[in-house]
Amino acid sequence: LSKIEIKLGDIPEGKNMTFKWRGKPLFVRHRTEKEIATEEAVNLGELRDPQHDKERVQDPKWVIVLGVCTHLGCVPIANAGDFGGYYCPCHGSHYDASGRIRKGPAPLNLEVPYYEFPDEDTVVVG
Ligand code: FES
Repeated sequence: LSKIEIKLGDIPEGKNMTFKWRGKPLFVRHRTEKEIATEEAVNLGELRDPQHDKERVQDPKWVIVLGVCTHLGCVPIANAGDFGGYYCPCHGSHYDASGRIRKGPAPLNLEVPYYEFPDEDTVVVG
């Protein structure tokens, strides 16, 4: 199926859930206020692939990214690593809670797919 519909009420604050979309893992993360504040405050000068958090989310509560490490394609682990986002155990890439690469060999941020919110409890990806 080219699109996936996800009910956001099923994802508690602070949790990341993994779905399968177009044969790839898709991460949907319900961020806490603290995570949002931390990611919005990151200085772009610190980033390898500079993107403000606001460029990566439509609603700051929800981070929606492909669960595919931009190094060699392993699936990162949620809520792990030095930046509180994702950690790829294959070769040690650390992503923040915006899905931006912060440390390790991966060159780029986790990819944000096209998505929309048809209502406040639903996201449609694809
Ligand atoms: Fe993720 Fe190499 S595939 S660090």
